[in-house]
Amino acid sequence: MRVVSGIQPTGDLHLGNLLGAILRWVRMQDEAECLFFLADLHALTVDIEPALLRANVREMAAALIASGIDPDKSIVFAHSAVPAHAELCWILNCTARMGWLNRMTQWKDKAGKNREGSSVGLFDYPVLQAADVLIYQATHVPVGEDQKQHIELARDIALKFNNDFDIELFIPPEPFIGGGTAARVMSLRDGTAKMSKSDPSEQSRIHLTDSDDVIAQKIRKAKTDPDPLPDDPTLLEGRPEAKNLVGILAAMTGETPETVLQRFAGQGFGAFKPVLADATIALVGPLRDRLIELRRDETALDAILAAGAEKAAALAAPTLAEAYRAVGLRG
Ligand code: TYM
Repeated sequence: MRVVSGIQPTGDLHLGNLLGAILRWVRMQDEAECLFFLADLHALTVDIEPALLRANVREMAAALIASGIDPDKSIVFAHSAVPAHAELCWILNCTARMGWLNRMTQWKDKAGKNREGSSVGLFDYPVLQAADVLIYQATHVPVGEDQKQHIELARDIALKFNNDFDIELFIPPEPFIGGGTAARVMSLRDGTAKMSKSDPSEQSRIHLTDSDDVIAQKIRKAKTDPDPLPDDPTLLEGRPEAKNLVGILAAMTGETPETVLQRFAGQGFGAFKPVLADATIALVGPLRDRLIELRRDETALDAILAAGAEKAAALAAPTLAEAYRAVGLRG
């Protein structure tokens, strides 16, 4: 079992990242060989500020470590430091089909009406993501629900490559999506939109860097409806904000929405929100305090990333060499 996953180093880690991915990565560290990387090449697909990107890579590395990723157990690196990702991406670009990429919902959402003005990188993004996973022969890719389609595309690319070149080189990866409500955490302002770093409203998400007061205030102001909470989660259908807040509390306490609702049935959000705020502060507060400590030592963070990149490059090299040989190059 080999676990591989990544996160874009754009801005702050938020509660969706934490519940949907990072805390699950932390739990997998003791069960498998794990590689976790900062997808800084992916961050180039939209407009960036170079100096900010450099700082964000370090900040996100610190955030992962603060959240419990242990560099002594897992390989932590920035994927720009391992050129095999970009090299394999080129080879796989020639396997992937335009039609496959055209169907990617993230591409459609991010490009919107401006397809002609989008970078080629934004369109090609899922092929680089496939390379990220296939280069390490990953068996499990723990991600939130929103990344499922990309991992399924990586499967298709792996199968087509193996078939085209009559070789059993790539392992078709499995998207490993958590059960329960953590797989898709929604915005605090709109229960039909996912919690996302690209949402312009800071009120829509809780950041790892938010103070206890800011967390409490964001939850107090989270959109809700005037009805009391029911005793049965199926009665939350059609109430997306209520469903989301119940789901977030369930994900944090390890309960099911049923058991959460048993505690609050008949009560309004005036009773529910302070409990949610306390649980969020109990989860996020200690991670934030550790992040503040860790980010002080940039040299230590750079050393962790450099050591991780070296280990990752050694694991990637044989697969890249095989891929070149399979297509008739360098061999
Ligand atoms: P990114 O940086 O958007 O998100 C990182 C991880 O957080 C999960 N996530 C969520 N889970 C639940 N609810 C949410 N609201 C929520 N928002 C984000 C994401 O599903 C993801 O697991 N393309 C990827 C990064 C990437 C990658 C890869 C992932 C690059 N190469 C290879 C896996 C394997 C991305 O932009 O994730």
